Parts: sequence; C-alpha cells; structure tokens
Amino acid sequence: MKSFEAIKISDRVYWVGAIDWALRNFHGYQTPEGSTYNAFLILGDEPILVDTVKEQFFDEMMSRIRSVIDPTKITHIISNHSEMDHSGCLVKAIELISPKKILASKMGHTALKAHFHFDADITEITQGEQMTLGDTQLTFLETRMLHWPDSMFTFVGNDGVLFSQDAFGMHLATSQLFADEHDHHILRQEASTYFANILMPYAKVVAKLLSSPLLDKLDVKLIAPDHGPLWRSGEDIQWIFDLYKQWSEQRYYQKAVIIYDTMWQSTAKMARVIADGIMSEGVEVKVLPIDGSYRSDIATELLEAGAFLVGTPTINKQMFPTIADMLCYIKGLEPTSLLSQAFGSHGCGGEGALQVQVILKDMGLTMFQDEPLKVQYVPEENDLVFCREFGQSVAKKLIAISSHGA
Ligand code: FEO
Repeated sequence: MKSFEAIKISDRVYWVGAIDWALRNFHGYQTPEGSTYNAFLILGDEPILVDTVKEQFFDEMMSRIRSVIDPTKITHIISNHSEMDHSGCLVKAIELISPKKILASKMGHTALKAHFHFDADITEITQGEQMTLGDTQLTFLETRMLHWPDSMFTFVGNDGVLFSQDAFGMHLATSQLFADEHDHHILRQEASTYFANILMPYAKVVAKLLSSPLLDKLDVKLIAPDHGPLWRSGEDIQWIFDLYKQWSEQRYYQKAVIIYDTMWQSTAKMARVIADGIMSEGVEVKVLPIDGSYRSDIATELLEAGAFLVGTPTINKQMFPTIADMLCYIKGLEPTSLLSQAFGSHGCGGEGALQVQVILKDMGLTMFQDEPLKVQYVPEENDLVFCREFGQSVAKKLIAISSHGA
C-alpha cells in the first residue's frame, strides 16, 4: 500500500494526479472549490505518463504511480500542455524516470525549453500523427491556442480515452473522479466558469475543434481533462460537447449584467433602477456590486448574457480603481455579443463613466448609445425615471438583437 494510490479509469489507463483541496485562486480566477491536476499512466508494453502535476504535488503523483508500477519502467512521457500546473514537476519526473522519449507538440517543445531551460531531448509530434508504443496506439491532435500555443490532445485508441488537457475541465477538488457521480447543476456551473475564464478568448478555436474531422473520427469513450471530473458516459460526453458548442457560438442572450461601484450610493441607485426597467420588459438581469463580486464570477455571468452595463462614480478625474481592475480582466477575455453602456453619478466632470465608455467601445462591444448615462451628485426622482426608461430601452434593443442579430 502507498500513501496515495492510483485509480483505474479504463482497461489500461490509471489516474495518477493530485487533488488540491486548498486552491482558492488560480492566477486571478477564484476557485472556491479547489482543483485537481490530473495526470495519467497508460500501462502496456511501453508504460506512458501523460502530463504531470503542480510542482508541490510531485510526491502525491509519484506515490500513486508507485502503487501500480515501478516508475523507472515508464518509457515515455507525453506533455499535452506546458503550463506549470501540468509541467511543474516534469523535470523531477524526467530525472527519476529517465524515459526513452518525451513527446510534445512543436510549440510544446519550445515552451518546455523556455520554462525549464533543460537539455532533455523532446520529440515533436505533428498534427494528426499516429504512433504505436509497444501495444498502445496513440493519435495526437494539436489544439493550438486551446488555450496555449503548445496545447494538444492525446487519444489512446485501445481504450478510446481522450486526454484533453485543459479543455472540458473545471476547477473542482473532489473525491468523485467521474462526472456521472456529480450533480449536473454543479458540473455546468464549474464548467461554465472554466470556459468563461480560460477559454472565452479562444471561442472560435473551440468551435473549429468541435467540427474537426480529426476529432470526429476518434471513437471517444472517455474524456480525461487535466482538471476536475472525467467524462465516461456517452451521454455526458455529448452533454459537455453540446455546452462547448453553445458557449463557443457567443450569441446574444436575453440577460443583462450590471456591474457597479458606488461612492455615496448614487451610482448604486442608478444601477437598481436601470435593472428594474430591464426586468419590467421581461428580460433577466443580474446586478453585481463590485464590492463582493469577484472578477471571475463576473466573467462567468457574461458567458450567457447579452448586455453588459458598467457603473462607476468619478474619483480624482478617474473611474473607480475596482472598476478598472474588473475591466482589465474582462477585456482580456474578449467577450463578444454584448450590448454595452457606461453609467454613473459624478461631482465635477464625470470622467469616470466617460473612461469606462471608451474601454467598452475599445472592446468592440455593441454600444447602446455614444455617450455614457450620467447624473450629477444625487439622482432626483426624474433622473431615476430616466434611468428606468433607459433600462427599458436597453431591454427592448436586446430583445430585438437576440431575435434578429445586431
Ligand atoms: Fe491547467 Fe492551462 O493549465
């Protein structure tokens, strides 16, 4: 018995990863449920390790490997993705295992060298390449920019297992390794959060992958991502494929997301009344005060939204720093298909809302009107009525766009 043990997931494949119960932030993405770093061992005439784990979990991975095989018997290591949550202990693993070959994509080769500055010999895989290692049949799919240039999938033909690195994954530390052991509501929430925060900028790449003839001709029986539960039933595989297809389309949804910060509750009042106007037209609205809303949660809300309204007061001729932080993060995720508008209360010039409006335009969003909606100091009843009418107009335009396109 070992302190950590491998879990068999198919005839010849074992899960030898690590569970990070303590992770709460993954480079700016809030992870209240922790995560897993999934690594896999393919047993056969030529044992193969697929991906590794974050550096501090090296011992856990090695213990799981040792529970089924002497690690020095491993002949090959495949690196599907060089980000350090999957390659962090690659160098240590290579030193201990001394594999005959390390396999990665061409860009993976470059990335691994640039990360670890080692002189290990890396064999480059080409798109669609097939390889037989001992009695194991492998097919490789390059998935560049899903979500790094090096990303690739590896398919084990014998068992129909697709190692999909980050794709189809989620940050969820769990003792239930398979998706069919979880409630679909939780899977949808975590998978959508992952898609929004990691894959949204590459939605077109996802769409292309899902219609790729190379992927289509694989007889996939189990999808094993590098994070979270594994998809082993045909029904669940179709379910996550369908969700990825939907999210990759980035269409306008009849839902508005309002984000705001406030100094003396005036911008907050505007946000609440705008929301009421939107609701009155039968459009769903989610109001997120920035105080208490993490930026990755905002990204998740935007994945299935059609309007993005941002409220800020003005402080020292600037938007609130909290709003600048959020916009910086959301802009990088390149959301599309959003009707957008800035608003806010101000004292002197109202530069804050103007700056937000410029950023929203720069993001290429569909602006509701050219100028931000501004109120000086505390809104009076007639200002609030105007805000409500503004909300109604946004809702009507969103209904029109989502029905007929922008
Ligand atoms: Fe899970 Fe892109 O690393």
